[in-house]
Amino acid sequence: MSLSVAVAGKGGTGKTTFSSLLIRYLLGENKKPILAVDADPNANLGDALGLEIEDTVGDICEEMLRNKDNLPAGMAKTDYLNLKIERALIESSGMDLLSMGRPEGPGCYCYTNNLLRSIIDKISSRYPYLIMDNEAGLEHLSRKTTRDVDFLLIVSDPTVRGLKTVQRIHQMVSNLKISVGKQFLVLNRAKPESSSILSSHLEKVGIGLAGVIPEDELIYEYDGEGKPLVELPAESTAVKAVKGIVEKLGI
Ligand SMILES: Nc1ncnc2c1ncn2[C@@H]1O[C@H](COP(=O)(O)OP(=O)(O)O)[C@@H](O)[C@H]1O
Ligand SMILES: [Mg+2]
Repeated sequence: MSLSVAVAGKGGTGKTTFSSLLIRYLLGENKKPILAVDADPNANLGDALGLEIEDTVGDICEEMLRNKDNLPAGMAKTDYLNLKIERALIESSGMDLLSMGRPEGPGCYCYTNNLLRSIIDKISSRYPYLIMDNEAGLEHLSRKTTRDVDFLLIVSDPTVRGLKTVQRIHQMVSNLKISVGKQFLVLNRAKPESSSILSSHLEKVGIGLAGVIPEDELIYEYDGEGKPLVELPAESTAVKAVKGIVEKLGI
């Protein structure tokens, strides 16, 4: 089976946290190998996964643009780009990480002839599980730099303003060039009083609730100490909540 999940939401709502807990769950269930794609230019999925990023796809494209007339003799641009991107993959046990970095301008060679997309498609097709941590603007999804996704999970904090952003993202998705399967909302950092305040607003969002993740002291602690979130213990309330969400969605 093959599964691709894109995680979206406003900055700071917990996209990276949720993505890494989703990956933690899949690894625990032996659902691997996983390709983790960090599609947020303010990349920090690597930290949450305990992996050091060296090169991003954006950097590679930029370098390619600068050196396009000085590539190794006899080497086609496609092959050069392919090789560089393969090398940028950070390999780890059960999971590899590819960091997209900043998308290039519209004139960039990599984008203008869909080269990048075909390379990323080829790489991601080697993995039965693809988890993509996006930036709020869904830039990589809208540029079609990545493959279609089965699930789009939009993370929000439990505030009315947060839910309005969810609505905006939900509307934006219909304009994307890639196809998106099911969409759900994930309410993160919920406090006991959150649900009653928000229940009336949830209906207006027009997207089903996948589940609620509570505020978890352990996440603070791990982030504060720079410990990877994939190493959170099973008793973490957030870890338990993500397990519940994933099982409910049948991922
Ligand atoms: N459920 C949670 N409990 C406690 N802290 C959280 C929780 N979710 C996220 N955080 C904290 O919120 C901050 C932003 O989360 P992050 O996942 O980096 O957001 P995003 O990727 O959407 O910008 C981080 O410092 C993280 O530690
Ligand atoms: Mg993030």
